[in-house]
Amino acid sequence: MNQDLLAKYGGNVPRYTSYPTAAQFGDWVSADHYAAWLGEIDGAEPVSLYLHIPYCHKLCWYCACHTNITAKYSPIARYVDLLKKEMELVSRRLKVRPKVSFIHWGGGSPNMLSAEDFRGLMVAINKNFKISGTVENAMEVDPRSMTREKAESYIKAGINRVSLGVQDFNPHVQKAINRIQPFEMTRDIVGWLRGAGIGGINFDLMYGLPKQTLEDVIRNVDRAVELWPDRLAVFGYAHVPWMKSHQKMINEQDLPTSGARLKMADALSKRLVEHGYIQIGLDHYAKPGDPLTRAYLAGTLHRNFQGYTTDDATTLIALGASSISRLPRGFVQNTTSMKDYANTIDNGDLATARGVHVTREDHWHWAVIEQLMCQMRVDLKKVCQKLEIPPDSFSPEIFALKELEDDGLVKHRGATFEVTRKGRPYVRSIAAIFDQHLQDNTSRHSKVV
Ligand SMILES: C[S@@+](CC[C@H](N)C(=O)[O-])C[C@H]1O[C@@H](n2cnc3c(N)ncnc32)[C@H](O)[C@@H]1O
Ligand code: SF4
Repeated sequence: MNQDLLAKYGGNVPRYTSYPTAAQFGDWVSADHYAAWLGEIDGAEPVSLYLHIPYCHKLCWYCACHTNITAKYSPIARYVDLLKKEMELVSRRLKVRPKVSFIHWGGGSPNMLSAEDFRGLMVAINKNFKISGTVENAMEVDPRSMTREKAESYIKAGINRVSLGVQDFNPHVQKAINRIQPFEMTRDIVGWLRGAGIGGINFDLMYGLPKQTLEDVIRNVDRAVELWPDRLAVFGYAHVPWMKSHQKMINEQDLPTSGARLKMADALSKRLVEHGYIQIGLDHYAKPGDPLTRAYLAGTLHRNFQGYTTDDATTLIALGASSISRLPRGFVQNTTSMKDYANTIDNGDLATARGVHVTREDHWHWAVIEQLMCQMRVDLKKVCQKLEIPPDSFSPEIFALKELEDDGLVKHRGATFEVTRKGRPYVRSIAAIFDQHLQDNTSRHSKVV
């Protein structure tokens, strides 16, 4: 039966970290739109900031992120100057100096930044924005390019949450993905971070990697739990060699089948729950008292480009090549070409390359998709009441859900639809019922499991 479900619902579907998704972005959103939308920020609510640092010291063959490999520091130093310039350009379009309650440093590997450059960027943020006293300042870190000195300096300059890329502890898998990272390295960094006062540590783990077995995946969980991270994000490997040509370094025959991936996801989830973690949404796990768990239990969890978050800001200002900003009227992505990014910013222009306008209907549909992805349930009557839209606004989708209900993926009582345990791995396909833009371009997305 699982094989039937896999064939029917395991196809290529967006991860719904935004809606409309990046597949809908086009050049109909320009730097002029972005400038106008920035000018509409009124300072009534805090905004979030995202800084993209697209540099790493070595390429992992599975990587789907926007990054560049460099052995030298000079391109990074130059990029830091561009980020500061971009911040000024954005700031000039703002009518207020908004308060910032969340800062996220993503990549690439933001810990490629020297301690001095990181401090310089924090000074620039302070100059252009008002940093809230309770700001969550989170950094994604590649343990292989971390040092104790860097960890301590970042924390001194404001970092209070760290996400470590771990992926897999097994040497034969590490070899197959070109990422050698001994357990002791991760253990030492966790020790330094805790010693310097960091409370919130996340690990990224992956399943579905080449040469990985079910036993490997379970061992990964047990080893990770020895270090007792506050949160874990467990990603299924998205194999998209038509978009990321270096993934061709991975021999497709070494990849687990869809059926094996499903078993891995299920075993991982059970093991983490046995260890006392709470499953949050599709692929996150957190300790019982963690803010993410509290948000999940309170129904205030959100979904954004980083996955699941407690960040409830409606505006995200993103800086750096390829970064995506979210504003009430639309999404805006900077050019992914480093050369174009540098030239445009040097010319004093915003580096917008594409984006999408968000319509009223998109807001309604995102309200449902986000709740399904976060809570695994949605009360459509409540959504309609809250958004003040007609109660029959989702009638076509309710009709389409009948088939998924017959297959045991969802059940409903009145207008409340709940994803069943059996349906959980297919939540992206369930959410896709509410995606008005999803047509035939599914090849741009990764497989559900
Ligand atoms: C920016 S990296 C994290 C920080 C750092 N660069 C590192 O790898 O340690 C973001 C995360 O995305 C996940 N990731 C990267 N490529 C992926 C892919 N093809 N499929 C699924 N997850 C992927 C990995 O778990 C990785 O830790
Ligand atoms: S370190 Fe992270 S961003 Fe860099 S190549 Fe590896 S997975 Fe990608």
